[in-house]
Amino acid sequence: MKKDVRKAVIAGNWKMNKTRPEAKALIEEMKPLVANAGCEVVACVPFTNLETVLEAAKGSNIKVGAQNCHFEKSGAFTGEISADMLVEMGVEYVIIGHSERRQYFGETDETVNKRTKAALAAGLKVILCVGEMLADRENGITDELVAMQTKIALKNVSAEELKNVIIAYEPVWAIGTGKTATAEQANEVCAVIRATIKALYGCEAAEGITIQYGGSMNAKNAAELVAQPDVDGGLIGGASLKAPDFAVIVDAATKG
Ligand code: 13P
Repeated sequence: MKKDVRKAVIAGNWKMNKTRPEAKALIEEMKPLVANAGCEVVACVPFTNLETVLEAAKGSNIKVGAQNCHFEKSGAFTGEISADMLVEMGVEYVIIGHSERRQYFGETDETVNKRTKAALAAGLKVILCVGEMLADRENGITDELVAMQTKIALKNVSAEELKNVIIAYEPVWAIGTGKTATAEQANEVCAVIRATIKALYGCEAAEGITIQYGGSMNAKNAAELVAQPDVDGGLIGGASLKAPDFAVIVDAATKG
């Protein structure tokens, strides 16, 4: 597989952090530090920060994303946000199927598929998250599980739509725990995901799709992770809230 045909993407997932003034300050601090990035840089921020961050990031190379969207276009879904609402604001990316949504908010492979399709239909770029729990890894079913999550999430997604999909491999046991997958483990599962894409969409799609690693990626371990042949960047939680650390990760992905 040729890594140089793909663009690395470093995306920050701010999760439920930062008020609007804090969000503005973080983007302002980040802008000069990532201005020369040789990879795509994305900040996925809470809904309440989208307008502020879109404004603060204007004219910079920082793209803006949300962390979820609903699958219906509109209607009686209290507390939800539609893909069209995000597009209208100028949001470019959305994270779908994050393990915290799956664990705490009843997200299933089926709803991940519905949200993915709705986001793509609205014109958003999707960062689709898959990954195993510790018990799955211990039971030796990581590869099968991640392949299944990928397959179901992409049901009825066309090859053309797939061009707007990034897949993030995030082992649940590595998220927020400081316990990173080894570079070899990360690469191995990213390669399984790529093989799944190849089986579904063919060689060209598999070679072109960006597959990120996420889970305790930080300024210290990023270089080794993103240097792996099947790892095309990262989805960063905690370290994306510190501009200097995030910038080091962006530099690591720029060097590839
Ligand atoms: P941490 O980098 O904090 O482990 O979070 C990873 C993650 O869940 C990104 O979506």
